[in-house]
Amino acid sequence: MEIRLEEITKNYQRNNRKISVLNGLNLTIPKGKFVVFSGDSGVGKSTLLNIISGVSRPTSGKVYYGKEEITGYNEQQLSDFRRAKLGIVTQNCELIPYLTLYENLELAFELNKTPVGEDKKKDIIKLLNELGLYNLENEYPKSLSSGEIKRAAIARSIISKPEVLIMDEPTANLDRKNVIKVLEILQKYKESGSMVIISSHEGQAIDFADININLSNTRCQEKQIFIA
Ligand SMILES: Nc1ncnc2c1ncn2[C@@H]1O[C@H](COP(=O)(O)OP(=O)(O)OP(=O)(O)O)[C@@H](O)[C@H]1O
Ligand SMILES: [Mg+2]
Repeated sequence: MEIRLEEITKNYQRNNRKISVLNGLNLTIPKGKFVVFSGDSGVGKSTLLNIISGVSRPTSGKVYYGKEEITGYNEQQLSDFRRAKLGIVTQNCELIPYLTLYENLELAFELNKTPVGEDKKKDIIKLLNELGLYNLENEYPKSLSSGEIKRAAIARSIISKPEVLIMDEPTANLDRKNVIKVLEILQKYKESGSMVIISSHEGQAIDFADININLSNTRCQEKQIFIA
């Protein structure tokens, strides 16, 4: 399912001044790609990801997933849609503070009404290990570092295998080793048939992606290798 944005603009208000971002952005994201939005701080990366994921509404313009216009959904429909189709990591990546790391991941299945049997339990531990979160499954978020929380939020968004992953700066505040680890997991995830849409300042993320869209000059660069 491709994602299509039509004439997207978001206006914010600050001290009686209007701030306009994205300014009528038109964009089609083809199915099954790994896309990175880059560009200067304040250019509108988070705003755009929040609009694509239906977390925030554009002031004007439409967002389509295939033929479905999600900007026409009411709050309940939007929330059902997000739950069924999307894995989301926001820039501040909140975990639920009174649940352990394991329970935070288990919740992703429960929200989808998927029973958590022995195989799912193993998947949770395996993914936490893959992200370098060994033996932390029984810890609460307050005892984790910001990099560990980031990786746990990534794990939570991936574990229920959503069709589209949308992550705001998933590699920010991670060391080199973990940046590569996260990017490899996202690439593998895309290769399994899902879409991955992230924002990042990192050259490495841009190298891993199929498509880089720099919002500072809204120039879409698709790598040659994928054009053929
Ligand atoms: N709730 C808000 N109220 C007022 N202005 C806002 C609000 N959210 C964002 N903005 C403004 O909109 C612009 C785009 O913000 P956004 O967070 O999308 O940028 P960004 O590209 O994600 O930046 P960064 O790289 O720093 O995360 C900025 O100028 C920001 O100050
Ligand atoms: Mg941002």
